[in-house]
Amino acid sequence: MSEQTATEGKTYAPDPELSKTANVRPEMKEQDLREFWDEQAKARLDWFEDYDEVLDWQLPYAKWFVGGKLNACYNCVDRHVEGGKGDKVALHVVPDDGPDSSEARDITYSELQREVVKLANGLKELGVGKGVPVGIYMQMIPEAVVAMLACARLGAPHTVVFGGFSGKAVAERCNDLECKVLITQDEAMRGGKAGAQKTNADEGLDAGPTTVEKVVVVKRSGADIPMSDRDVYLHDLVANVSDDPESCPCEPMDSEDLLFLLYTSGSTGKPKGVVHTTAGYLLGVATTHNLVFDVKDDSVYWCAADVGWITGHSYITYGPLANGVTQVLFEGVPGYPDQEVWWRIIEKYGVSILYTSPTAIRAHMKAGEKHAEAHDLSSIKILGSVGEPINPEAWEWYREHIGGGKAPIMDTWWQTETGHILITPLPGITTLKPGMAQQPFPGVRPEIRDDEGNQVPAETTGNLVLTEPWPGMMRGLYNDDQRFRENYWSKYSDAYFAGDGAKYDADGDIMLMGRIDDVVNVSGHRLSTFEIESALVEHADVAEAAVAAKKDPDTGQAIVAFVSLIADKQGTEELEQALREQVAQSIGKLARPASVIFAHDLPKTRSGKIMRRLLKNIAEGEELGDTSTLVDASVVEEMQKQVNG
Ligand code: WTA
Repeated sequence: MSEQTATEGKTYAPDPELSKTANVRPEMKEQDLREFWDEQAKARLDWFEDYDEVLDWQLPYAKWFVGGKLNACYNCVDRHVEGGKGDKVALHVVPDDGPDSSEARDITYSELQREVVKLANGLKELGVGKGVPVGIYMQMIPEAVVAMLACARLGAPHTVVFGGFSGKAVAERCNDLECKVLITQDEAMRGGKAGAQKTNADEGLDAGPTTVEKVVVVKRSGADIPMSDRDVYLHDLVANVSDDPESCPCEPMDSEDLLFLLYTSGSTGKPKGVVHTTAGYLLGVATTHNLVFDVKDDSVYWCAADVGWITGHSYITYGPLANGVTQVLFEGVPGYPDQEVWWRIIEKYGVSILYTSPTAIRAHMKAGEKHAEAHDLSSIKILGSVGEPINPEAWEWYREHIGGGKAPIMDTWWQTETGHILITPLPGITTLKPGMAQQPFPGVRPEIRDDEGNQVPAETTGNLVLTEPWPGMMRGLYNDDQRFRENYWSKYSDAYFAGDGAKYDADGDIMLMGRIDDVVNVSGHRLSTFEIESALVEHADVAEAAVAAKKDPDTGQAIVAFVSLIADKQGTEELEQALREQVAQSIGKLARPASVIFAHDLPKTRSGKIMRRLLKNIAEGEELGDTSTLVDASVVEEMQKQVNG
């Protein structure tokens, strides 16, 4: 099956059986994009009212399925129950301590519907309804999915804040969207430990004025946490409400009504509130989920991402549930209670599709294939990867040890802003090349351009752009039209600029080369250098800080902080620890720098500009290149000594 090509090494031709039965058809790639999405929209979604027009494109704002009315929760839950699939398992709920735990349980589509209706009725009592925003700050428990769906049912926009972020991040995001209600849980259960959740949220909300009037708390650990007048336990809130779907019908929403905001890191300033609306987003996630993962009626799907990131929104909640799939929802982490937990999950539930990140794959690789080999993983048919470039070594390991040496790997490129997968191999069609996302999804039109706007030749890195709209594309940044235009639509007047570098190989397949802005990608999670720098300079001893990323064999990239101190302060080990903690407290543990380098100044040009390229070279231990504009070379030597230690 495999053959060598001169340029990129191994390739894997599609399995002819899969080519015959795959949902995706090669002709789709030739279709006019409006025609393609129109067909999908008619086939995949249930509409309360038909749309008049497929696309109204006024760059940079798109309207898809203009005039249509629908409800995302109806499409994800109710229609499956009404269609006779009420007894189908929607969620195999796997708690932190694994699939053998007595807390493991299944939730059918009917049960999911009742839970959603109850919470929606409870939220109504708190004044939530169409257009009233709700914050969600939870871990990977089913109530997180229920909460998103309950909001969608009511037409209440949600913003989910990653459960590992700080209370400050929660408050900032909730206040920006003017959330009236926040839904959280008492404690987080991960890796066998209970961690603060609700009290984190309190800390954030109590630090200043907030729009949040009520906090709904899911009992997870059952710990005795402080509850104030602002708080209500979810089980008390829904104790006396109806679970009859007719008591809380799905609100008919316009195609372009706000479904959710998800805040993501940009290169500067505060997090960006990425706007996603109802119809185009839902169609985009349902179509890509179905075709990229070749979802069948009996598929058992598992996306090991977190609901707090876009991957969880698109490929745990909205895409898979719109497709009526059975999926695993795992609360925990790889490696707890032991290294075999993932493989026990696959074996127990017969998982046929696994979608995860290169970081997780590398962690499993490090733990060794013996753990996977101890289990029957023969149910696996399709594998997926997302969030960062996957190194060919991890790709091969994934295919060999998890995919039984034959499951195709879908290396999916997309972003919070794009809403759904845009560049990916397709099952049964694409001849796979390890480490490459390769081809545009049907209806998607990428180009790779140089800074002048010319398309680059093969094997030359350029900027990835999209020249035509797609249904799940962001509909702007919340309350910030100017930043939206500047960030994404100013580099080229006629195309969306993704912020990623990419190149074509000789066959025209696309390889992603990483971010070209000041966004770092740790374990597939986006963080902005600016936010980390802001957290560092909050420390009283710090004069200036700059952050660079270096390659890391486990997390893809790791954060190196360069810090200059105010007079008389010393760069001690204690201070390094304190600074790392400061960042963890302010943003979240994920953002904690791997190392802190102290120097009496930062490397600057004569005009005082920090030379970030040099910081990157120093962090990587590389040659420095041109240093002629550097004012004080001793700074760099001081830093290099610490890095090369
Ligand atoms: C990176 C996550 C290479 C990329 C869905 C992008 C990838 C950023 C891939 C978006 C991939 C995501 N290959 N790089 N398959 N998938 N990225 O918004 O730099 O958290 O711009 O969305 O992750 O991260 P975000």
